[in-house]
Amino acid sequence: MRSRPSRRTIELVTTNDLEEGKEMARVVEPAALDEQKLEQFVFRAVDEVGAALNAALVVMGDKLGLYRALAGAGSLSPADLAARTGTAERYVREWLNAQAAGGYVDYDPATGRYTLPPEQAVALTDEASPAYLPGFFQIALGSVLDSPRITQAARSGEGLGWHEHGHDVHEGCERFFRPGYNANLVSTWLPALDGVVAKLERGARVADLGCGHGASTILMAQAFPQSTFVGSDYHEGSIDTARTRAEQGGVADRVRFETASAAAHSGRDYDLVTMFDCLHDMGDPVGAARRVHHALAPDGTWMIVEPAAGDRVEDNLNPVGRAYYGFSTLLCTPASLSQEVGLALGAQAGEARIREVVEAAGFTRFRRVAETPFNLVFEARS
Ligand SMILES: C[S@@+](CC[C@H](N)C(=O)[O-])C[C@H]1O[C@@H](n2cnc3c(N)ncnc32)[C@H](O)[C@@H]1O
Repeated sequence: MRSRPSRRTIELVTTNDLEEGKEMARVVEPAALDEQKLEQFVFRAVDEVGAALNAALVVMGDKLGLYRALAGAGSLSPADLAARTGTAERYVREWLNAQAAGGYVDYDPATGRYTLPPEQAVALTDEASPAYLPGFFQIALGSVLDSPRITQAARSGEGLGWHEHGHDVHEGCERFFRPGYNANLVSTWLPALDGVVAKLERGARVADLGCGHGASTILMAQAFPQSTFVGSDYHEGSIDTARTRAEQGGVADRVRFETASAAAHSGRDYDLVTMFDCLHDMGDPVGAARRVHHALAPDGTWMIVEPAAGDRVEDNLNPVGRAYYGFSTLLCTPASLSQEVGLALGAQAGEARIREVVEAAGFTRFRRVAETPFNLVFEARS
């Protein structure tokens, strides 16, 4: 290990021994610097800068149809790909090289052609696959684009509402979550709730609060044609999109969407109330939970889907926790702080904090019924 001492510094400190407000100088001895660790950290950062830029490149490839044109097409030259997508060859060539350097496409130096491997093709083009990724990148890019306002908000402590974000956050959120709901909601999460599927099959009344673009609401409506659904969200723009999606999904006759905050939602006697990845975004989750308690039929169920998280910070210091703490800093915490109460649970609240919220609202039964690497699913009942 090569090491060299870093510079000795002098800092001003206030000690308890001194009168209030008085400061004294203290010489701080330098910690030995491990040059190798410093170098490793810098090279790791090079990788991360490449990854940060790649968020924009993936969204670009998705919006321009580059991945879809590559999928199953064998090996293509930049000119081939540009011709198939109506794009400019010089941009496409540079984009392909960035994709090849990141392992997203394969490059053959002998022919100068590029191939999208089948696994990447699924992850980057198949919207029906649980591995589908472009929405994840789109919401990440949208969050980064809006980050100057978060930097400003962090100075003042004020919030930034979900409705104040750009299109990529709203649409990216829908496209990020939908594959997971497609894979788990009807097959695993609803059956894990006590007696709920039987009610849905007979014909139940369901409210999906904080529904965003309504991906979860529409999926449930398609699976349970005897039931009726209300989706609500405080963001009017999301509700407008949800109504369009319900028309496209053929369920507009059984799904009503309304603009309402969860705490002010007006319905009653629901057999099932659901919240997908939104309780922690709310300023007053306890108020919203009380409203759910009031809105449920006596034997009704509240299903809460939250980001996967352990209760302690150290439980979440892993790749999923890293991504979620990132979203939490840029989206979820400011969203909650922008609303009344501003509890700011954060996207990594964990089961114990969610239980506190649920029990504070009067629910007596609370349990975790399912989990994936990305989500925890809870059941709450009176
Ligand atoms: C991360 S998005 C999840 C959207 C949707 N549930 C999904 O799974 O795609 C969080 C949603 O919570 C909504 N939201 C935040 N605070 C709310 C509140 N107090 N009442 C109702 N909706 C709220 C936002 O508008 C946003 O649509």
